[in-house]
Amino acid sequence: MKRDQKFFDLYSLVIGVLAFIAVAILVLAMKMTSRTQQVFTTATDEYRAAVEERLRPFGQVYLPGEEAHAGEPQVAAAPATEPVATTLTGPQVYNEACIACHGSGIGGAPKFGDAAMWAPRIAQGKTTLYDHAINGFTGSAGFMPQKGARVDLSDQEVRDAVDYMVSQSQ
Ligand code: HEC
Repeated sequence: MKRDQKFFDLYSLVIGVLAFIAVAILVLAMKMTSRTQQVFTTATDEYRAAVEERLRPFGQVYLPGEEAHAGEPQVAAAPATEPVATTLTGPQVYNEACIACHGSGIGGAPKFGDAAMWAPRIAQGKTTLYDHAINGFTGSAGFMPQKGARVDLSDQEVRDAVDYMVSQSQ
């Protein structure tokens, strides 16, 4: 009987110590969690934003229709480039496409600046001159190719060149 009593006492003591340790761990754990939670709840917005920023997933996917979140780095729209001037002026067209013949009067072409040669042609009226320059013309003097063989020129560019030649040959 005495031995049983002794065993029981020892057993109770061990159970008691273990229970005490368990409770102590529990209390300690609760204290620790309340401390860490407290840090987060009482943290400044700045601190919380910094934490959220660190926890943010690296990449983000936007589905069609979804708007990009504010605060995302926005790529500034590239400034629209100046449209390249594609229309040539009268003098430019003349220097590129007409001067070959009209500069020195090759093949019977009325010479640039020669008022005597141009006077009867100017007398036909601008409409005829435009038409002959744009569509080509074979007269008594020779062959005037369509748009001076520069079919890439617009009608207006050819008209401007005619205006330029005429204005310089009166
Ligand atoms: C390959 C040579 C040649 C080139 C290049 C040329 N011309 Fe001519 N052009 C002529 C000849 C030749 C005549 C005269 C035709 C005639 O009257 O028999 C002429 C005549 C003209 C006339 C007068 C037409 C008329 O009714 O009397 C005009 C206007 C004219 N050219 C404009 C131009 C213009 C504008 C260009 C450039 C875009 C140009 N030409 C390029 C050869 C050329």
